Amino acid sequence: MTSGYASGKAILFGEHAVVYGRPAIAVPVGKLRALATIEEAPPGEGLVIHATDLGVRFRLGTAITPEHPAFPLEATVRHTLRKLGVEDVPDLTLRISSTVPIARGLGSGAAVATALVRALSRHLGHDLSPLEISQLVYQTEIIHHGTPSGIDNTVIAFERPVYFVRDRPIQVLAVKRPFWLLIADTGVASPTKIAVADVRRAWQQQPAEFEAVFDQIAAITVQAAAAISSGQTSALGRLMNENHELLVQLGVSSPELERLVRAARDAGALGAKLCGAGRGGNMIAHVSPKQTQGVAAALREAGATDVIASRVQATTPQ
Ligand code: MEV
Repeated sequence: MTSGYASGKAILFGEHAVVYGRPAIAVPVGKLRALATIEEAPPGEGLVIHATDLGVRFRLGTAITPEHPAFPLEATVRHTLRKLGVEDVPDLTLRISSTVPIARGLGSGAAVATALVRALSRHLGHDLSPLEISQLVYQTEIIHHGTPSGIDNTVIAFERPVYFVRDRPIQVLAVKRPFWLLIADTGVASPTKIAVADVRRAWQQQPAEFEAVFDQIAAITVQAAAAISSGQTSALGRLMNENHELLVQLGVSSPELERLVRAARDAGALGAKLCGAGRGGNMIAHVSPKQTQGVAAALREAGATDVIASRVQATTPQ
């Protein structure tokens, strides 16, 4: 049996603005994982995919309409086979499971696709580079999200914190000193595609206003990258709060997100913001290790359906 894993991700700064060419910062979240496994199947069986979390089981070639819930999986397998130069569909059983919640801003689509590409390419004897995996997964992201910036597939395929600017070479972000995050789920599913399309519509109606907000988000992201790479993490909380207010101006917060952001700040978090596409999904709070338990309890009390503590590891010698 061959397997491939991929982690989830959290965007720390710059979501939405990143779609418009501004920088964003994202980190992998190793506690959330997608897993794909592959076994040889009897000759003539075709390639059968079981996606337990989606509740679908299908044979490759049968999920070819965009409305089919397994269409992104079908497309990912097809793109991967094409990339590997495999013309005849192999007889395989492919199983996918994931603890990355769907439509919650934590990169579930990119994580599942990355795990699948890793497992399939390995099983067929190919060692794809992170960039090749990222480019394949980007094709799936287009199906999921319409006009993705490419940040999710990049951070997940490279498995490193990234300072990401659309259409520019990947920049791994050095983390001088580790820091703690809490990631809390509103329990509200919010497809990225819809939030991104709404921001686009609003931007088309008020381009100057939205461009100005994107520029302010970019300035915050630049400061945050400097803080993370120099170990001055005390600035991160304030920067998260500022970034959140600008996301509110873009119209992507929600009553549930506001409740959790406020609860985290009131319980002593250093800063808090929505994370990902917004409208629902998850928020993040920057906390000191001592505050973690208290803030996590406050988030649960304020309605969070799940709270994950995640340590962003240092990437450079201290
Ligand atoms: C989604 O994880 C982040 C957004 O900025 C969309 C994108 O970058 O494609 C909202």
